[in-house]
Amino acid sequence: MPKSRPQPQPQPLHLGLAEDLIARIDRGEWAEGQRLPSVRELASAFSMSTFTVSRAIRQLTSAGRVQTIQGKGTFVIPARADRALTPFGDDDRNGHLPVDLSWQNALLRKPASTRASQIVQPLIRSSQLSSDMIVLASGGETSDVLPAHSLQAAWKGLLGDVKSEMIGGWAAEGELQTREWIVQYLTGMGIATTPDNVIVTSGGQQALSLVAQTLLEPDDTVLVERPMYLFALSILDSLGVRCIDVAVDEDGTWIDAAEDLIERFHPKLVLTVPTGQVPTGITMPTNRRKQLLAAARKHGIIILEDDHASEMTYEGTAPPAIKSFDTHGHVIYAKSFSKITLPALRIGAIVAEGLILDALKHAKLISDRYTSTIIQSAFLAYVNRTSFARDLQRYRTIYGERRDAMLDALQREMPDGVTWTHPAAGFHLWLTMPPGISAQEVAVRAAANGVLVARGGAFFAQGDPDTGVRLTFTSNDPERIRLGIQRLARAVEDAMRGGRGHDTLPRLSDLGLT
Ligand SMILES: Cc1ncc(COP(=O)(O)O)c(C=O)c1O
Repeated sequence: MPKSRPQPQPQPLHLGLAEDLIARIDRGEWAEGQRLPSVRELASAFSMSTFTVSRAIRQLTSAGRVQTIQGKGTFVIPARADRALTPFGDDDRNGHLPVDLSWQNALLRKPASTRASQIVQPLIRSSQLSSDMIVLASGGETSDVLPAHSLQAAWKGLLGDVKSEMIGGWAAEGELQTREWIVQYLTGMGIATTPDNVIVTSGGQQALSLVAQTLLEPDDTVLVERPMYLFALSILDSLGVRCIDVAVDEDGTWIDAAEDLIERFHPKLVLTVPTGQVPTGITMPTNRRKQLLAAARKHGIIILEDDHASEMTYEGTAPPAIKSFDTHGHVIYAKSFSKITLPALRIGAIVAEGLILDALKHAKLISDRYTSTIIQSAFLAYVNRTSFARDLQRYRTIYGERRDAMLDALQREMPDGVTWTHPAAGFHLWLTMPPGISAQEVAVRAAANGVLVARGGAFFAQGDPDTGVRLTFTSNDPERIRLGIQRLARAVEDAMRGGRGHDTLPRLSDLGLT
């Protein structure tokens, strides 16, 4: 147990404490897998408030150095997986600089989010995984389905035929032709807008990021879904805003609870992925969309509607976008075209109105001036082909079959007590463990069994209940999905037999996954 207070730092107390705790972990005072003293014990040892200690622990969590498991405590986790924002002088990413670069840590903006590395880092190293490993953890882009040859046909000659207007490009909001096409496309989805209200962005991610940067200041409150798309949470983490979350049920945002939270916490923004929610795959029905909009109007706040792939709806058609009911500029609609063209094109869009629209155009300008006009031309060349509509239908059919294969396999293989969402759209579903079973432990056991799932903690804005994992159904064919689910079911059964009776977590490093 530590005896001394950390040295005074020219920074908030909790950050000084976080650095001190990291240094102690690095010195081996607490080993990998070991439980830290409780918040109360640390508070008493360092003569600090439990509030400060909790904030420091949160800092360690987002730096990927510890993980809290409800009911068990806070554990030191393997450092190599998540070192992006901690001193990393010994990290092999810096092998060309044989010096200690930990001084840079003091310059990094805080708080910093390392959510992505919590599920993505093991995947980045997936080239080191055996080809037998079935990856049910990664995003919705699927190279075996995407239209590489229609794109090649569309773009053949495009670069040989570079027009002068493609070389320059001064419109922060994007080329008029692109915005006209987007307006026409969105009209088909029930959203009435004009080219002046559209900003072409570099993917849906930039759309979310620009909105957050434009509207939010540190300590503003945002209402998000629970669980939630982790890269959206990462944006909010990086801005230092306060997130309040509302559970999604089988019908999307639980509207009564959302209204109650809006009244109590006065968020500036409600962030929702209403169709094919990430990570649950749930779709919010029309009446809830209208209720949410009514609440936003009543309280004078904004809904940020993230439409990453409503086209990928497998049961009937997607409900109208919340934006389609918006008459007073309360909804900012963020669209990704990545999943229905090619992620590497990085084309997305924002639809907004009024002063917020002007501010967003300015934000786009100072972020990256404008989205490449060459890429905008390439995008238009593809979406204007008649094969585009056929491609969309093809993805829907293939992904729908893969979804059904996963749902069937879960039904057949999973032990009693495991539950899962039934995604009407999107790319993922959410698997919830029986009470008392650690989802983190299941993920580790599953990796040992040859199936990789996305660890659930990164999808929570407020604490990790350690109850769920995300499964992606689009990126494997039905046969591999069935095999993957069999392996996962065995991992769940093992965890159920073993219970939670260990004081240390299984080490990811033992599995070659860090
Ligand atoms: C819910 C959600 N929103 C936004 C995005 C970002 O899309 P893009 O790849 O166009 O940046 C994604 C990407 O996976 C997503 O899942």
